[in-house]
Amino acid sequence: MQKIKNICCIGAGYVGGPTMAVIAQKCPEINVTVVDINEKRIAAWNDENVENIPIYEPGLSDVVKESRGRNLFFSTDVDAAIKNAEMIFISVNTPTKTYGVGKGMAADLKWIELCARQIARVSITDKIVVEKSTLPVRTAEALKSILENTGNGVKFQILSNPEFLAEGTAVEDLMDPDRVLIGGDIDTEEGRTAIQTLVDVYAHWVNKENILTTNVWSSELSKLTANAFLAQRVSSINAMSELCEKTGADVNEVARAIGMDSRIGSKFLKSSVGFGGSCFQKDILNLVYIAKRFGLQEVADYWEQVIIMNDHQKRRFAMNIVESLFNTVSGKKIALLGWAFKKDTNDTRESAAIYVADYLLNEHAEVVVYDPKVKPEQIYADLDYLGTRTEEENRALLTVVNEPYKACKEAHAVAILTEWDEFKAYDWQHIYDAMLKPAFVFDGRNILDINDLKRIGFVAHGIGMTQ
Ligand code: UDX
Ligand code: ADP
Repeated sequence: MQKIKNICCIGAGYVGGPTMAVIAQKCPEINVTVVDINEKRIAAWNDENVENIPIYEPGLSDVVKESRGRNLFFSTDVDAAIKNAEMIFISVNTPTKTYGVGKGMAADLKWIELCARQIARVSITDKIVVEKSTLPVRTAEALKSILENTGNGVKFQILSNPEFLAEGTAVEDLMDPDRVLIGGDIDTEEGRTAIQTLVDVYAHWVNKENILTTNVWSSELSKLTANAFLAQRVSSINAMSELCEKTGADVNEVARAIGMDSRIGSKFLKSSVGFGGSCFQKDILNLVYIAKRFGLQEVADYWEQVIIMNDHQKRRFAMNIVESLFNTVSGKKIALLGWAFKKDTNDTRESAAIYVADYLLNEHAEVVVYDPKVKPEQIYADLDYLGTRTEEENRALLTVVNEPYKACKEAHAVAILTEWDEFKAYDWQHIYDAMLKPAFVFDGRNILDINDLKRIGFVAHGIGMTQ
């Protein structure tokens, strides 16, 4: 059995960074090198002050502090790290394609392919290559083909090891995972050995019963399926939220009532302004694309509806603000609290806030944003990426402030878009006093007590309850 001494991880992002930090902490005898072509990102991972690492995750800086420089390294020298390692994780980004065939649906595998070609070019010893990024089913096959046809005659084993960590709880999820899934070539001796080698890495801290091994295709599809099921729960409860608003039911009560049914379970039933994040939409679109490619129209339509419902929820939230403010928000100051796609992360990919802001800007609102962890340049980059208006227009119409009370001062309305805990602790009386009247609150996360707000004098709207 091959003993792993050196691991290389390509991609120092939200997945690669935390995952490797935990592996390094739990496996002190393995050297873990995380590489990235983004020099700024690597410099930030190496910043003397560990609080400046580029990814905000509760507990992550402590884990990095413990291992960095001991057996955890961050570098831009991709070739050297590949050459030295017996095991290479690929955790580069795989965004939805923005061009050509599969545009808006299929995952763009350009970065993965570049990695594969680089691994093939520089490897002079046998390697185990682990797909960590979320990839469409059958990517391993493409990887294998590139590695075997362009390599230097060295042997590659390809494993699929999907990540199930959720941002904001990444460290916890990595330390104590519900399961670790490893897919590989179970039909050959070499494949089984490679699987076992990766099992041994995780077995440093994860119970063997929680490490599942499957064939590659099952592993790849399980990742997409898990995210599709989770996203579907959010869209399902969000669909009910609209009905609740019409009927006088309260979606929180409905969620609680159904969540106590042990067959349904209580998680992922929190109605919201809509799900975001780098995975849910991308993975479902991927699933839809794959189903269509196999001619499975009904399967494709079934899953696509989860996305359609989510888009509707984001638009509905914005339109409710416009309608409530007497059908116009033109020239009105609207404060958005939260820009991240969920609390405890500085990640904003596919955040509902981006779309809500875009709708409000289309209505000529004066939007002011406060988020405890997201930087102004990220907020502008997210808006610019939509391409709705020019960069100058976005900067003229939307302001980012670093203080919540400043954001709300003289605003017509406050909208909560991320469930940051600190929002609950604000002095809402103080906010009310400084706002224009009538003062509106739209709680897109149902984190505030609507009745308390009403007692202060706010016109307060939650999701999924009659106003
Ligand atoms: C998800 C999966 O949970 C994780 O296993 C996978 O590896 C990556 O994708 P992540 O996107 O980080 O993780 O966050 P998650 O907690 O799943 O939340 C996704 C979105 O759904 C967020 O915008 C969140 O606010 C929203 N959500 C979640 C709800 O609106 N209601 C809920 O009840 C739960
Ligand atoms: P994820 O959430 O999947 O981790 P991120 O975008 O946070 O996604 O991180 C992916 C990282 O992969 C980025 O920092 C990017 O610079 C890096 N990357 C992409 N392609 C390559 C490559 N060919 N070699 C090295 N790093 C790469």
